[in-house]
Amino acid sequence: MSVLTGKELRIVGFLCNWCSYGGADTAGVARATQPTDLRIIRVPCSGRVNPLFPLKALLSGADGVLVSGCHPRDCHYSAGNFYARRRLELLKEFLPIIGINPDRFEYTWVSASEGQRWQQVVTAFTDRIHKLGPAPRFKDAEPIYDLPGALTSLVRPLDCGGNPALDELKQQIRDALADGHLHCVVGWQQGYDPIHATPLHMRKPEDVDRLIWGPFNIHSTANMITQLIKEAQDAAMVGVKRGDPIPPAKKVGVVVKGCDSKGLVELLQEKLIDRNAVEIFAMGCNGTVSTDRILAKIGNTAARVSAVSGKGDTLTVTADGTEYTMSMNDIAQDKCRACKMPSAKVYDHFAGEPVTVAEDAVPEPAAIMAYLDSLTLDQRMGFWKGQMERCIRCHACRNACPMCVCREVCVADSREPHWVTQDDTVTNKFFFQLIHALHLAGRCTGCGECNRACPVGIPVGALKMQTGRIVQRLFDGYQPGTDADAIPPFLGYEVEEKNIPEHHIERA
Ligand code: FES
Repeated sequence: MSVLTGKELRIVGFLCNWCSYGGADTAGVARATQPTDLRIIRVPCSGRVNPLFPLKALLSGADGVLVSGCHPRDCHYSAGNFYARRRLELLKEFLPIIGINPDRFEYTWVSASEGQRWQQVVTAFTDRIHKLGPAPRFKDAEPIYDLPGALTSLVRPLDCGGNPALDELKQQIRDALADGHLHCVVGWQQGYDPIHATPLHMRKPEDVDRLIWGPFNIHSTANMITQLIKEAQDAAMVGVKRGDPIPPAKKVGVVVKGCDSKGLVELLQEKLIDRNAVEIFAMGCNGTVSTDRILAKIGNTAARVSAVSGKGDTLTVTADGTEYTMSMNDIAQDKCRACKMPSAKVYDHFAGEPVTVAEDAVPEPAAIMAYLDSLTLDQRMGFWKGQMERCIRCHACRNACPMCVCREVCVADSREPHWVTQDDTVTNKFFFQLIHALHLAGRCTGCGECNRACPVGIPVGALKMQTGRIVQRLFDGYQPGTDADAIPPFLGYEVEEKNIPEHHIERA
């Protein structure tokens, strides 16, 4: 096969040291003619290739990225390429949602003795990239600022009238606190006005009086659990001297809605928390509201809200002396409209009756995903560029995420490796979001906290929804946070993957 002629393009290759790098070497020793576009980065194993490597290359100007490792069952470290296969397939299917043609990324397997096959692979892939031409640059994309509307249908009736079992819940918490085995219990209390709730840390039975339950219990309590467990462990160590036995820490109590409990279950699945370290208080959720939508109904984001009351699906808000009546159907969060798990499945105490949703209820697809699906690749890139122009890098999306437990050592803040610089560019800001989305692949429970926390209204949750769709397809409908005994898909592998095809680049 002849060397491709014309202008070289930028193709980055991540090659496993033990097989594909050897295969490229074999091809070179045999003087097999190859295109010269490929810039090879040698890695110890294809399992070392974090999907962020190819993604960073593609966002930084590469026209194509090729990953090649040992054939399945031949990995020098026995299973590195099995793990890689799942992650790289995820990446390939993820690229279109951000406007990158998935044909610009490929992964394959070439052994050290397959010099000829390497020549075919690299030639076919280079040929493919030349046919596609230079990749569009994210920074040059035509920005799109449109946003789709909210969902309109509900999988169940929502209610803002409060829960009659609140007193029962409060008594359960008081009894547990009085028993002395809890460090604290986290729930919600009214914030600076009646439509804003804030976390409530109940340490004494009398603190429980401030607990609220209703449409303003918006924040995820799962978000706080790892820090509170650490706090309980630190408290247990107070006064302990070197050589003393380590005393057991008290449990941390947490009040949960269905979506919060999914976060806890996912943390249990990943062994980021110990089931014995938490005591879960649950109650059925009738839906939560978007405070932005309430303020939009009032028509004045600076309005002073003095009272709020709910009955059935009608919420009455008194702001600046005027009463506003609104329907839950108009002000509910989108995630609540589509929620099929309003009651926790894992708990120690349950107050009242569980709220259920019909098994066969079909949620309306997320409006943002339907909108993104309707765009071309170039338009999707422009959409994200338009959105990222508003990003102020406050990291609220990450800080609100129940699954982002390594905040102090987040790679997005790291200087080594230096994934994201301090440059105020759309590409940098977008890459931070991509790090977040890919770190949540197979883990995101869809709690929507990232969307809610964003102060400038960027629908960053769409990136996680895309990974969620891919994970569901690749792993037979897998849903994070629903089964405490399930192994998260990217922490495992199958030798024969049912839904991941072999990619035969050499026949391209
Ligand atoms: Fe080559 Fe693991 S050592 S893929």
